[in-house]
Amino acid sequence: MNQKYFNYQLIILVLFVWSCFSCSNQTTKNAENTKPYTEKFRPQYHFSPDSAWMNDPNGMVYFEGEYHLFYQFYPDSNVWGPMHWGHAISTDLVHWQHLPVALSPDSLGFIFSGSAVVDRNNTSGFGSKENPPLIAIFTYHNPEIVEAGGVEVESQAIAYSLDKGRSWTKYEGNPVIPNDGNRDFRDPNVIWNEEIQKWNLVLSASDHVQIYSSENLKEWKHESDFGIDAGTHDGVWECPDLFPLQIEGTDEMKWVLIVNINPGGPNGGSGTQYFLGEFDGHEFTADSKETNWVDWGRDNYAGVTWSDVPKEDGRRIFLGWMSNWDYAAVVPTKRWRSAMTLPRSLSLIKKKDSYVLKSTPVKEIDLITDESTSVITENIEVLGEKKLDLKGRALNQSRISLEFEMEETLPQSFGVVFENDLGERVILSYLSSAGQFQFNRTKSGDMSFSDKFSGVSFAPYKIGSTVTLDIFVDAASSEIFVDGGELVMTEIFFSTQPFSTLKVFADKQALTLRRAEVTAIRSIWNK
Ligand code: FRU
Repeated sequence: MNQKYFNYQLIILVLFVWSCFSCSNQTTKNAENTKPYTEKFRPQYHFSPDSAWMNDPNGMVYFEGEYHLFYQFYPDSNVWGPMHWGHAISTDLVHWQHLPVALSPDSLGFIFSGSAVVDRNNTSGFGSKENPPLIAIFTYHNPEIVEAGGVEVESQAIAYSLDKGRSWTKYEGNPVIPNDGNRDFRDPNVIWNEEIQKWNLVLSASDHVQIYSSENLKEWKHESDFGIDAGTHDGVWECPDLFPLQIEGTDEMKWVLIVNINPGGPNGGSGTQYFLGEFDGHEFTADSKETNWVDWGRDNYAGVTWSDVPKEDGRRIFLGWMSNWDYAAVVPTKRWRSAMTLPRSLSLIKKKDSYVLKSTPVKEIDLITDESTSVITENIEVLGEKKLDLKGRALNQSRISLEFEMEETLPQSFGVVFENDLGERVILSYLSSAGQFQFNRTKSGDMSFSDKFSGVSFAPYKIGSTVTLDIFVDAASSEIFVDGGELVMTEIFFSTQPFSTLKVFADKQALTLRRAEVTAIRSIWNK
């Protein structure tokens, strides 16, 4: 939104001066005193940049055994600034190797978000069939036009790589989609559409998405628009993604359109909505114009999916930025800012008459989980609050799995508390009368950096007679998957000390905790 980028410009000005003195000093200090990846709040099994500012995941593509992750990156400071594409690769979606910056700003502007594809048939002509090019499709955001008060700030451009993403050449004919008069006109996402044997591109244009097609990735035809009368419109639409997904247990396909929005998320600030429907290569027709949310927590934004994952694998793998524009620039980390969510495999399930987009952490997470899971307890009745014996397990780098069984009458509320010796805590509870989960971080530790951070997030959900919770806790984050990912909440926190106590509770009516397990997760970084 204009307002947002006005804010960005302000942030750059004010914080540039500050960052020259404070951040770079701090970065140097950190480099001297603390080894990267050992700092306080540093995620141990989530992707984060070695240093400096990161936001959206970009250009996620699988090619010749490597998952590429590019990301919005400002290498010179720990706040947002002239955007580059940072770069990392992984062979297993879990361990990441940092590579040099892939794309840097030039006379056409900053390098904003976008996607990448493998041009297998060399439709672009940049490579050959034997050595197909990787094509990055991104937005140029021109700060000079911003400065001059112009509208045509953003346009779409491409770059190619012939060496597995290690070096990139920007196309001399850029931009490939010039600005069309929309001030917010960005975040192109491309797929190869088998049905029409063409490329499709979806981008966001302030309050709707635009769909394009192309034979060669250079010349694009505007096909249609979607969304002016659908979904939530309390903010700017950003970072769309459009892809087909099979409905679990059937041969039926549905198209999924992901549209990020900021502000306007379900619990304030940034959020990720999705629509299900049909797409014929020209037009997207939604089954319903209602908004659905990929994640009800406050810290999963700008998420999109990997392109070109092999057919034999068949997964659609999603990754989001684990923060929120409401406070991302001021969270209490210095050397780096922000992390990504766990990569999540998306699937569609039919529930009564509607479909639900389910997210589950990718199975590769097992590569870093302890073989020995500790069963903390089995088949105990819970009424009131019960502290569980952790049997020596730590909580802050672990997966906590709980299975609850209800009596005929539901407790007034039930849930789980993570706490440290200072009494700092986060609470996940289910409120039966409201029919919703709530995540409470009002006493979670340091919240002084922003008055927008503290609070209780809610997520409507109808529970059955049993409920499972899988909670992935890292140094400063929790990702909650209810019933195998039918409902997801991702929230960050900054507790002064690690959480060391796990409690479960049920008010007014007992339930059975069928099983509670804690599994340690190893760090992915060589520190
Ligand atoms: C989303 C976003 C994108 C934009 C990028 C700029 O978080 O605002 O729309 O391309 O970040 O860094």
